[in-house]
Amino acid sequence: GPVICVVGARPNFMKIAPILRAFAANRPVIPTLLVHTGQHYDHEMNDKLFEDLRLPLPDINLGVGSGSHAVQTAEVMRRFEPVLDDKKPSCVLVVGDVNSTLACTLVAVKKGIPVAHVEAGLRSNDRSMPEEINRILTDQIADLLYTTERSAADNLLREGICLERVRFVGNVMIDSLLNNREFARSPADSIRATGANPEIIEGASGYGVVTMHRPSNVDEPEVLTSLLKVLREISTSIPLVFALHPRTKANIERFGLAEHIDAERMIMLPPQGYLEMLGLMAGARIVLTDSGGLQEETTALGVPCLTMRENTERPITVEQGTNTMVGRDVVTIRHHAAETLSGRGKSGRIPELWDGHTAERIAADLSEWLLSRHGNQVH
Ligand code: UD1
Repeated sequence: GPVICVVGARPNFMKIAPILRAFAANRPVIPTLLVHTGQHYDHEMNDKLFEDLRLPLPDINLGVGSGSHAVQTAEVMRRFEPVLDDKKPSCVLVVGDVNSTLACTLVAVKKGIPVAHVEAGLRSNDRSMPEEINRILTDQIADLLYTTERSAADNLLREGICLERVRFVGNVMIDSLLNNREFARSPADSIRATGANPEIIEGASGYGVVTMHRPSNVDEPEVLTSLLKVLREISTSIPLVFALHPRTKANIERFGLAEHIDAERMIMLPPQGYLEMLGLMAGARIVLTDSGGLQEETTALGVPCLTMRENTERPITVEQGTNTMVGRDVVTIRHHAAETLSGRGKSGRIPELWDGHTAERIAADLSEWLLSRHGNQVH
């Protein structure tokens, strides 16, 4: 049977694109079936990314949509099971740490279908993060664990996972970044496309990029207010371009915080496409974010990144890359922003195996693993 590749939410798409390409180019070809759970469904969160990444349309869309964690996870499980019965895959491949990742892993493993997890072993050690629970549980039960950095193997070992299952292959997200860099859209064009005036970012001071969507940052009015206030303050030193996640946008409206983003040098954009975001980040003097992916992408691009979280599951971006953890404390954020803008931001280096060839390594390894398994079954 085929390898069923699962995507659900925005950060999955840039990880699966190079994998599908490498599976098609592998000899022997690894047959695939792309299943989208439908966790993300807005044009900006979904279709636009598929176009940008030249991803084939999903073979199957489970149309799950939004819901509480329990409802969303349960719906994915319920709808994914018949797909496995019907398609009889040789393996299910999941990426990242979203609810769809765990839901599909759990279904497959219980049916005796092996699971490969790409981006395994990352740990924030913060169990209040829904992604941390997804990561821990997925790694416990998946068969093959492909890791992006060496620290992941230590985390897995600590959780009693046998290192035979672990393969350090590098970062598929960076495969996508390197494949698409030449197609990145100019920041001015991305801003103009939303009807805003790009003049503001074309000044001598350059511009910064902001993204924010973690429940811990945007679901409580006090926290969200204090973050918006410090960002507004920073915008007096450098214009800031925001790409607003639907959750954040909704909360700003719900909590009545619109006045805090109503500033001349704060440019609010809807969620951006992949090529738009790549162009915006590559040209930025500073990125302020709570995203996991942006911590890695800024490291690959050599752009200083301030991460507004207390912890990171991607420590190599701090140890070797351009990332600095600034938490949610306004004094710390203000201090590091000023340091960065005065030219004392981190420069960093490219982590081991973030070389654009990770998907090929996964294809070669998985292909061999599937063959050896098949062999064992025959004899
Ligand atoms: C999910 C992932 C998170 C990832 C993020 C990227 C989990 C637990 N979290 O969080 O790790 O960083 O995606 O975006 O899986 N919504 C829309 N349109 C959409 C999708 C969502 O408006 O296409 C809104 C809905 O109000 C929804 C809310 O966003 O209830 C949350 O969506 P959900 O998929 O549950 O989680 P994210 O916050 O997007």
